Amino acid sequence: MTNHYLLCPVCQLSLVSVGKHWSCPAGHQFDEARQGYLNLLLPQQKKSKQPGDNAEMIQARQTFLNAGYYQPVSDTLNQLAVEHLFNLPNPHVLDLGCGEGYYTERLQLALQDHQIASEIYGLDISKPAILAACKRTKNIHWLVGTNAHPPVSPGNSQLIVSIFTRIMEAQLRALIAEDGYLVTVNAGSHHLCELKEIIYPAARYEEFDVKARLEGYFEHQHRTTLDYPICVQGEALKALLDMTPHTWRANAETKARLYALEQLSLRVHMHVDWFKPC
Ligand SMILES: C[S@@+](CC[C@H](N)C(=O)[O-])C[C@H]1O[C@@H](n2cnc3c(N)ncnc32)[C@H](O)[C@@H]1O
Ligand SMILES: [Zn+2]
Repeated sequence: MTNHYLLCPVCQLSLVSVGKHWSCPAGHQFDEARQGYLNLLLPQQKKSKQPGDNAEMIQARQTFLNAGYYQPVSDTLNQLAVEHLFNLPNPHVLDLGCGEGYYTERLQLALQDHQIASEIYGLDISKPAILAACKRTKNIHWLVGTNAHPPVSPGNSQLIVSIFTRIMEAQLRALIAEDGYLVTVNAGSHHLCELKEIIYPAARYEEFDVKARLEGYFEHQHRTTLDYPICVQGEALKALLDMTPHTWRANAETKARLYALEQLSLRVHMHVDWFKPC
């Protein structure tokens, strides 16, 4: 079967599958792993032996996300995705840097609930992330690959999702369909500010300007800012500390103090932004 969506990462020709075996007309071959993912990351695209988040970080993120503290973010994304994809025939959805697949799986379930037939792809450079994602669901095409050279045909994604991942504007612009949408999720200036205040003597409240980053490539359509309190407890708190770069920068004494806490009240502050190509 020819899949006009996936491209050979070596020569960029369309990949064709016979069962779990994929190849391109130039003879490059890729086999689906028994867990169900396709590895389209070339050795020369790796900057380290095990690129992306490691198994511990993935486990921590999964424990934290499964506890539901960021569910309003996922719900916001899903609601807008349903509105945008409703009338499109079999849209391609691509979650770039999908991690262990929390948002991707919930998006797939939301589209299914609304009877929106779609092909959903989740791509991450981290093999442990994609292995964890495969355990979530087989209803998504899980890919190991890099956002820097996505093995996906240009102009063929009706929805691209980028949640807490580095924005590569030229690649995103090349991938998006003319009638497609890009949705990004990024931290607002006060996201987890209580944690920052514990860790840094002079905490800074800055935020990444995604609109400026995408200027000239995408036109901003809509922003939903989520700003709500959470009280994180138990193993979810340990997981949050483990997955947060702020914690890694803390000194030993502060780390010990944080890990001894039974609960921590925090502010969630995130922006969900929608863009159209320009
Ligand atoms: C902060 S995590 C976000 C994961 C997921 N979107 C979420 O919000 O749960 C960033 C993810 O990007 C992945 N990543 C880093 N560099 C990448 C690259 N060049 N291509 C694809 N994924 C990459 C990491 O492995 C990690 O899973
Ligand atoms: Zn090829």
